[in-house]
Amino acid sequence: NSSPVWGGRFKKPLAQKTVKFNESISFDKKLAQFDILGSQAHAEMLAKQGIISEFESHAIINGLKKISKKINSNKIEFSEEAEDIHMNIELFLIKEIGDTAKKLHTGRSRNDQVALDLRLYVKHEIQNIQNLLNNLNISIEHIAYFHKETILPGYTHLQKAQPITLEKYLKAYQSMFLRDTTRLNDCLVRMDYSPLGAGALAGTSLPIDREFTAKKLGFNGVIENSIDAVSDRDFIIEFISAASIIITHLSRFSEDMIIWATEEFNFIKLDDAYATGSSLMPNKKNPDIPELIRGKTGRIFGNLMGILTVMKALPLGYNKDLQEDKEGLFDTVETIKNCLDIFNDFLNSITFQTDNMKISATNSYIWSTHLLEQLVKQGIAFRIAHEIIGNLVIYCLDNNKYFSQLTKEECDKISPHIFSSIKLIH
Ligand code: ARG
Repeated sequence: NSSPVWGGRFKKPLAQKTVKFNESISFDKKLAQFDILGSQAHAEMLAKQGIISEFESHAIINGLKKISKKINSNKIEFSEEAEDIHMNIELFLIKEIGDTAKKLHTGRSRNDQVALDLRLYVKHEIQNIQNLLNNLNISIEHIAYFHKETILPGYTHLQKAQPITLEKYLKAYQSMFLRDTTRLNDCLVRMDYSPLGAGALAGTSLPIDREFTAKKLGFNGVIENSIDAVSDRDFIIEFISAASIIITHLSRFSEDMIIWATEEFNFIKLDDAYATGSSLMPNKKNPDIPELIRGKTGRIFGNLMGILTVMKALPLGYNKDLQEDKEGLFDTVETIKNCLDIFNDFLNSITFQTDNMKISATNSYIWSTHLLEQLVKQGIAFRIAHEIIGNLVIYCLDNNKYFSQLTKEECDKISPHIFSSIKLIH
């Protein structure tokens, strides 16, 4: 039977191309388990309110339980004719328990139903992503613990700037990922309200209990305004924004590792299991994992632009444009989870070349600021000390020397304060 659930109003079946163009089951099947949870809570509420009988409610809830199991074990084939996950499940339920199933959609619309499913999905996935962020932060903590004394050059403008420790460097990223976790929390707090009961947009004249279903499904409360409840996708925009920031952090970390893995830097050695070779050049070992993460940033930013553009200028109330909210969201979730997971493994596989870091920090002028501050401590004005050390750097560059190789005579020619200070910093 290919006539849809609204068949009563229509004289002809859908054109095959309409079916293909209109369907969302090919991707919204991802929401199946959330849809079932929402329907079970709804059915329980309908009975509690005396809108359907307890008997009918039980039949619906048990039928849905069976369908849930069948979906989990891939025993069910979804149909494009039924358009989306909501109608697919309703039709399965009719097959499973008969006409009682036709009471499930009482006091509900697909508009509040889809908004509910999406919120349940995002809430669930935010937790998974927070767990992955947490794993990554534990790895960083662990690695950093062993590098409290590991000195390397810190960079600004990608030019050697001042000495830092590897611990401090790593913990900079940890700070970002900790903020990302709290950013997801903020997003969670704002989206933790149930749209169920908003109906198509105007609520319902039936005596439903919105608070009951909200509580049952683990929400903090209900979305008061029924038009807002079905029209709002702020939570998706916010979530993908937070994901964009996470992948930005991952991308910067990746970029640093790519630079550090070059022969020129040689600060890290890539593990064979987390690098790739060249089909032509036998010498190559490439950092594909961080490069791909850097590349996938484009996807997530694209998904953010996608949802912003869908929402822009959308008249209030549900519009079918909103079906386009899903693929970018799902892709963002999968991408960010994959990236966090593999980056964690990649990070743990890295060998930090601490000797090379040390040589790079020693054979350089990154101690200049420190030396300048030694002069300031001796009472020399900052600007004058700055000029003295600047002259010292030029002298060293012209004579191909580092500070530690200078004799007292050479230092004294520039300023009598330098030589004793060099001893203090090295
Ligand atoms: N498949 C639709 C979506 O993803 C479900 C809601 C449909 N509602 C409607 N009135 N056509 O947005």
